[in-house]
Order: sequence, then C-alpha cells, then structure tokens
Amino acid sequence: MTAGPFRTKIQQIRHLTPDIRELTLEMVEPSSLSFKAGQSIAVEVPDEASSSPLFRYFSLASIPRSSRHVVLLLNSQDRGKGSAFLLEQDIGAEVQISGPYGSFILQHEPGRELLFVGTGTGVAPLWSMLATLLDGESSPPMKLLWGLRSESDRYYLEELEVWEDQYKNFSYELALSQPSAAWQGKKGRVTDLLKELATVDHLAAYVCGNLAMVKEVSVLLKEKGDCAIYRERHSENL
Ligand SMILES: Cc1cc2nc3c(=O)[nH]c(=O)nc-3n(C[C@H](O)[C@H](O)[C@H](O)COP(=O)(O)OP(=O)(O)OC[C@H]3O[C@@H](n4cnc5c(N)ncnc54)[C@H](O)[C@@H]3O)c2cc1C
Ligand SMILES: NC(=O)c1ccc[n+]([C@@H]2O[C@H](COP(=O)([O-])OP(=O)(O)OC[C@H]3O[C@@H](n4cnc5c(N)ncnc54)[C@H](OP(=O)(O)O)[C@@H]3O)[C@@H](O)[C@H]2O)c1
Repeated sequence: MTAGPFRTKIQQIRHLTPDIRELTLEMVEPSSLSFKAGQSIAVEVPDEASSSPLFRYFSLASIPRSSRHVVLLLNSQDRGKGSAFLLEQDIGAEVQISGPYGSFILQHEPGRELLFVGTGTGVAPLWSMLATLLDGESSPPMKLLWGLRSESDRYYLEELEVWEDQYKNFSYELALSQPSAAWQGKKGRVTDLLKELATVDHLAAYVCGNLAMVKEVSVLLKEKGDCAIYRERHSENL
C-alpha cells in the first residue's frame, strides 16, 4: 500500500563525508511511516518551471521499527533539482513525501547466506535490510561488499565495526577504486571482490547502486552459479 503526501520535518543533517549527507526526517502527519526494509519514498520537489512538483526517490536507510523518523542518504554532488532542494533546507523545514514504494525487500530464502553488494549511496536500502536482520532474533550469515572511491568517501565505519564485533554472522569488505597509496585494504571495484568468490550456489544477493555495477554484478553472479539475485525494479531489465 502506498499513500501520501505526508508531512515531515527535517530533524537532522549529518555530513558523513565531504559529499554525503544523511538526512533524518521526522514524521509529522502521520506520526509514523509503515514500510519494509529496502523500500523508498518520493520527496516532493517544488518546481519553479511548472505548476506541479517533481518527485525524487530516496531509499530509506533506517529500520522500520523506528518509523517515527526516516533516514535518507544523498550525494551533495548530484546537482539536480531534487538534491539541490533538499540540501537548501534548514533544520525544521517541512518536506512532503509519499510512499513507501518498491518491492526491493528481504525475501524468505531458507538455507541461503546473504550477500549485500552496493556502491556509493546504493548502500542505503542494504543498510536498512542489514540493520533489520541484525535487530531480529536470528539471522543467517551475511556479508556486505561496498564499493567507494577513496578513504574520504567512507562512512558508517564505526557502525560496521560494532556490527562485526557484536554479530558473529556479519562481516563486510570495502573496495576503494581510487585510494591513496597508503590504503592497506582492497583496491578496486566491488566487482573485483565478487570475482574472488569460489561458489555462489548457497547465496541470495541484494544489489544496489550504480546501474552499470548492478548489471555487471548480476552477470558475474549468474556466471558463477545458482545465486538468487534481488535488485530494484528499475534495474531489472538491465
Ligand atoms: C527507487 C530509487 C531509490 C533511490 N534512492 C536514492 C538514495 O537513497 N540516495 C540517492 O542519492 N539517490 C537515490 N536515487 C536517485 C535519486 O532519486 C535522484 O535521481 C538523485 O538523487 C538525483 O536527483 P536530482 O534531482 O538531484 O538530479 P536529477 O535532476 O535527477 O539529475 C540527475 C543528474 O543529472 C545531472 N543534471 C541535472 N540537470 C543538469 C543540468 N542542467 N546540467 C548538467 N547536469 C545536470 C545532475 O548532476 C544529477 O546528477 C534513487 C532512485 C530510485 C529510482
Ligand atoms: N534504491 C536505489 O535504486 C538507489 C538507492 C541509493 C542510491 N542509488 C543510486 O546509487 C548510485 C550511487 O552512486 P555511485 O554508485 O555511482 O557512487 P559513486 O560514489 O559515484 O561511486 C562509488 C563506486 O562505484 C564504482 N563504480 C562505478 N561504476 C562501477 C561499475 N560498473 N562496477 C563496479 N563499481 C563501479 C566507482 O568506481 P570508479 O572510481 O572506478 O568510478 C566507485 O568506487 C547513484 O546513481 C544513486 O542514484 C540507487
């Protein structure tokens, strides 16, 4: 079920990196949003060039249980109308949203380990899924592979460390495509990390981010074997 428009207020804007902003919206009317991990909302963007607003989709990075607030990740370098509108707003500003939208949600896959593959802000829906699973009573082994450009593009590192320490079934790997010479971790793209997998028959993969990456990851996983692959509907025909 989708609905709206709903009234929200910007509660917090965090600068996670020089480019990435984390926006927390407080639900005003209604006072909470019912959604599933992986779903997105549409933000209503006033358009001076037209009498009707534009709509821009953003995945919810927060977990459904804390639905009085929703968290979005956006790249301040996307200088389109949607990003510009959100980034111009002050704390307390009202933003209209609708939703939730989308069928990129966790599926029941008994016996399969979970692989989450993302680039950039594509981690947003994966983050909601991971946090939801880890918050639940039991969850299968799961791994996040996250592609970013350089050290200064990394964020949520503390949270990742805490998850890895606290949950024996969670692990993650970052791939930096343009790291400094001092970087000791994996150098390359997430697709390079996937090439290291010996078998995928035991996996269900959730993939989100750059569309070319989604396509390449899907091809790679299919070549390697019988992996269940889930991605946003708009990337299904790639
Ligand atoms: C289901 C779904 C979920 C999504 N979730 C997220 C999310 O969680 N986080 C996120 O960041 N994005 C997400 N997106 C993408 C998001 O909806 C926007 O498309 C994106 O943020 C850019 O929107 P925009 O209005 O700023 O740019 P748009 O107006 O859509 O423009 C797209 C790009 O074109 C460039 N551009 C626009 N106008 C010009 C111009 N005149 N000259 C030169 N270049 C131009 C802009 O730099 C921008 O990068 C999602 C998309 C979908 C479909
Ligand atoms: N629900 C959704 O659908 C949803 C949610 C959130 C975000 N998004 C989308 O996710 C995207 C995030 O941006 P971005 O991923 O381009 O982030 P980015 O910050 O521009 O790039 C992140 C990393 O992706 C790498 N990359 C680029 N092309 C690749 C490919 N074909 N295969 C593997 N890795 C590749 C880049 O490597 P190089 O340095 O080599 O370029 C870089 O290391 C945006 O387009 C946003 O709209 C979608």
